[in-house]
Amino acid sequence: MLRMVKFVSLILVSLILVFGTGIEADAKKKKKKKIVLTEAENAMFDKWEVKPKKRLKAVKDMRKKPKYVGAVKCNGSCHDPYYQAWTKSPHGGTYNLLKPGERKEAKVRVKLDPEKDYTTTPLCLRCHTTGYRQKGGFKPAGSKNKKGKDTASKIDPDEPNKEQVGCEMCHSVAGGSQFRAVMKSSKGNFTKVETEKYGQRWDYANVCTRCHTHKNTPFKPEVHDKYKFNYEERKLKVHKIKDYWSEDNADQKLEKVEDRAKETGQTEKTPLLIEDFKINDKGKLKFVKGTKPYNSKKKTFNYKK
Ligand code: HEC
Ligand code: HEC
Ligand code: HEC
Repeated sequence: MLRMVKFVSLILVSLILVFGTGIEADAKKKKKKKIVLTEAENAMFDKWEVKPKKRLKAVKDMRKKPKYVGAVKCNGSCHDPYYQAWTKSPHGGTYNLLKPGERKEAKVRVKLDPEKDYTTTPLCLRCHTTGYRQKGGFKPAGSKNKKGKDTASKIDPDEPNKEQVGCEMCHSVAGGSQFRAVMKSSKGNFTKVETEKYGQRWDYANVCTRCHTHKNTPFKPEVHDKYKFNYEERKLKVHKIKDYWSEDNADQKLEKVEDRAKETGQTEKTPLLIEDFKINDKGKLKFVKGTKPYNSKKKTFNYKK
């Protein structure tokens, strides 16, 4: 009997020696999770002359799923004149149009109720705010998480943000969190293709049709001539930055902008899909399957055929 016990213990000990304990295995797994930069990522950072210490944090941001971060984040120390000009531009005030009493005549013309508050109406929020029903996007008053906690986006009238049609509605496929890291790491010295890999889009004329002339907008060209959409004319009103340069932001001039204008990004060659969306029986906004420009599960971009 004693020999039997000794024998079994010997086997157990050897098993542990060979395979290790569960604790060790867990520790190994944890170690494996440590981020290792790929060759391509290192080559990219070499090109942008990013110090090794700074690479890990940048790569963490670039590998996360894209999400909307809001216009205030684009302002910061990078695009102050664009942000300032935007707050005074048509797109910096789109949320206000959903309030009662605003643009009564235009609302009546398309049979909307001029005295109704549309600031929580899903259909309107899709085109008048940033990233509604998408990761990180705008959440209207009354939004709650599963535990009942209030998750509504904060609105500060002095600092327009996700409640308006922000930068990301024209410049990104699913939010700017990733390419923001590219822009910062490269200190503006990036190519169009380098940002496209992280969800930036350059198919400007196409992206306008996410809202203008989209089949779900009440303000169609058939309703009034002023809703006809000519891209070349309209784009001149998007960024009137000229008057917003100052001593404080003079260092934010985009030095590579002319070089970049000579490149043709993939999104310009093959414009991305434009989302179709519906309001379902429960009043929720749903994107129609297969119409999104970005598939976040497969991490692929969907171009128009
Ligand atoms: C598919 C996108 C889309 C949806 C949905 C949408 N809008 Fe708009 N809305 C636009 C666009 C684009 C314009 C600007 C049209 C233009 O000036 O050519 C606009 C303009 C407006 C205007 C100003 C019109 C004017 O002539 O002054 C009001 C008011 C407005 N929207 C309210 C609403 C309300 C309320 C809802 C929901 C019932 C709504 N919108 C839904 C895209 C949309
Ligand atoms: C309604 C759509 C729209 C919105 C909203 C928008 N942009 Fe733009 N942006 C454009 C278009 C279109 C161009 C190109 C203009 C041109 O070709 O003259 C552009 C160009 C730019 C450029 C120059 C890029 C380059 O390399 O040529 C910067 C920087 C920029 N936008 C930043 C911003 C920031 C920051 C915001 C938010 C505060 C913002 N944009 C909001 C449409 C938009
Ligand atoms: C996410 C939705 C959305 C996208 C994308 C969008 N717009 Fe708009 N745009 C609006 C809304 C809403 C208004 C209404 C603002 C108002 O009337 O005050 C508007 C108004 C405008 C106006 C002011 C109309 C005028 O003449 O006074 C211009 C110009 C314009 N858009 C140009 C563009 C261009 C160019 C693009 C593409 C690069 C674009 N927009 C993309 C929603 C959008």
